Order: sequence, then C-alpha cells, then structure tokens
Amino acid sequence: MACFIVFEGGDGSGKSTQARSLNRRLRRRGLPVLLTREPGGTPAGESIRRWLKGRLNLQPLSELLLFEAARTQLVESVIRPGLDGGSTVISDRYTASTMAYQGYGRGLDLGLIRQLNQIATGGLAPDLTVLLDLPAQIGLSRRGAAGADPFESAPDEFQRKVREGYLTLAAEDPARWLVLDGARPQRQLSRDIWAKVQPLL
Ligand code: TYD
Repeated sequence: MACFIVFEGGDGSGKSTQARSLNRRLRRRGLPVLLTREPGGTPAGESIRRWLKGRLNLQPLSELLLFEAARTQLVESVIRPGLDGGSTVISDRYTASTMAYQGYGRGLDLGLIRQLNQIATGGLAPDLTVLLDLPAQIGLSRRGAAGADPFESAPDEFQRKVREGYLTLAAEDPARWLVLDGARPQRQLSRDIWAKVQPLL
C-alpha cells in the first residue's frame, strides 16, 4: 500500500539524513519511493524557498502563506500523484513544521494554521510522522553558524518553543507519530524507524 511518511525536527536534528537513509533502504528493496522536501520539491516551491531564505523581513503572516503556497504545489504535483501511482512518499518536513515554527514558534494562531494546512493539502495527512527530538542548542551547534538562515539564527527561545510545539503535536496523536531522541547514533535511529515503517508498507 502507498504510504506517506514525514520527517520532522528542529534545525540540525538529523531528520534529512534519516529521510535519505529510509529512501535508500526502500530503493534497495526495489520498492517505488519518492523523496521530497519542504519548502521546495517543485520548481515553484524551490523559488518560494529562496524567497523564504532571503532576508526580506517578511511579516509572519506573509511567511505562513508562502509556506502554504509551496505546499499546495508539492501536494498537487508530487505527493498525491506519487501516492496514487503506488509509491511510498517521504517528505523532509510537512504541515507539522508550520504548526511548530509559525504557530508555537512565531505565535500565529494555531487554529488558523490548521485550517490553512487543511486547505493547502486538501486534507492529505501523513500515515506516520517521525520526530527527531533534540535540544535546540545541540541542533544549532551541529549545524554551525555557516549555514545560518533567518530560521536557524532565530533566538534560543524561539527554538525552544518550536521543540515544545513538536512534542505537544506528537503527544496529541501518538498513533501517527514516532518520537526519537535525535542525539542517539544514526544507525540505531534508522533501525527504529525501519521497525515502525515496515508494517505500514
Ligand atoms: P532547511 O534548510 O530546509 O532546514 P532544515 O534542514 O532544518 O529542514 O530550511 C527550512 C526552514 O524553514 C527551517 O528552519 C524550518 C522552516 N520552516 C517553517 O518555518 N515552516 C514550515 O512550514 C516549513 C516547511 C519550514
């Protein structure tokens, strides 16, 4: 069965490494799989990503709407067709990022974000969201100052709220979330993720 799996976590949590690792594992088994990311994953989405990463001093609401616009492009042209065609789809970030960063982090209304997520995705929800949980300090120091963009250079307090937001979301829907300690060795994390994903396929 086609399955939609999302990786979430703070900056430098190791989620992109784990998303790629799961992608490789499925490929090795000859299973059809698509790996994508947010914001981005389509030509329009990648343009929007460059806007978001530029230092344009966007209003929080403008930022929110840009994330949602990129998401609509991705859902309609990549994720839904992929699932309909029988592929497993893996996304590095999805709707929970907006809840965590723009909602819990920036303080935008959570109900509004839920509504926009629903509209932007046509209600397409992941079968599983894997959260790589890590104290913000560790994530940011792993990442180093060199890669800093407006989100990564946000103050510690913001990163702390994002982390708490993720944990709250995961606690609200434990059947569809897998929360792992991002400080554990990558190999162990891959093994635990595979144990959870395999029965879904
Ligand atoms: P990226 O370079 O992809 O970082 P990461 O490797 O941590 O995913 O940058 C994406 C940034 O955008 C990241 O800091 C999280 C942020 N973001 C939001 O604030 N809201 C969203 O809805 C999404 C998808 C991402």
